[in-house]
Amino acid sequence: MTAKKITLLELQNKKKQQEPIVMVTAYEYAAARLAEAAAIDVILVGDSLGMVMLGHETTIPVTMEMMLHHCQAVARGRQNSFLVGDMPFGSYETSPQDAVKNAVRFLQEGGVDAVKLEGGREMLPSIQAILNAGIPVMGHLGLTPQSVSKLGGFRVQGKTATSAYAMLEDALALQAAGCFSLVLEAIPAAVAAAISQRLTIPTIGIGAGVGCDGQVLVYHDLLGLTFRPYARFVRQYANLTQTITTALTSFRDEVHSGQFPAPEHGYGMDANELAQFEAMLRET
Ligand code: KIV
Repeated sequence: MTAKKITLLELQNKKKQQEPIVMVTAYEYAAARLAEAAAIDVILVGDSLGMVMLGHETTIPVTMEMMLHHCQAVARGRQNSFLVGDMPFGSYETSPQDAVKNAVRFLQEGGVDAVKLEGGREMLPSIQAILNAGIPVMGHLGLTPQSVSKLGGFRVQGKTATSAYAMLEDALALQAAGCFSLVLEAIPAAVAAAISQRLTIPTIGIGAGVGCDGQVLVYHDLLGLTFRPYARFVRQYANLTQTITTALTSFRDEVHSGQFPAPEHGYGMDANELAQFEAMLRET
């Protein structure tokens, strides 16, 4: 477990002291416990759960009910990490009122400390309304997966000078509104570094180079537990697909061969009781 509870102030201080912030996604109790054990600063219950946990092609089908279900499980497993819930598609774009209502549910029912939502200046009315309700907001710029259709696929963003500059303006506007941090996803490293240097709030990069104030990876990606081709920005720190397949195959083989269960996996019975039971069986 991390030594002390991570707060917004702590995250801000990490930026000031140039100490990288580490964020990972988690979607259930065990993952939250493991993230805590690894002293991860921020746990994000990402809507990526729609893809890695539920097998959807995109994050679009993810609903508030799904997010709250997973947030609750993660909240039960975290202790000191700062917990962020990802607002799903359709839960904040429709109106500032919907955005506040759903953000409140994340805190009240999901047990998170803050919410994250995708988009730039066009989302300011919703972001401002959530902030006015006293709920911390993490922004998300660059490749915003909920807009995958509009973006024409999971593509790198901010590759032209104009789009990179527009992203900087979005970042400054989100900071001015009061966001406590921004995720920068799949953008050129030079653009992410320039944005990070000009902001006073921390940026958390994914596919955005080393110039961000922190890094995030999807739990299943970093553990090697995904069945899609890995994005260029993923580093696999384990191969759990291999480990789990080997374990499951061994289980199957040992059941087939009679090696499992062994005597130590079962329960004995008092000899007298057993004798009586056998006698009863003989009488039937
Ligand atoms: O949903 C998610 O996992 C995310 C991260 C990739 C930042 O938004």
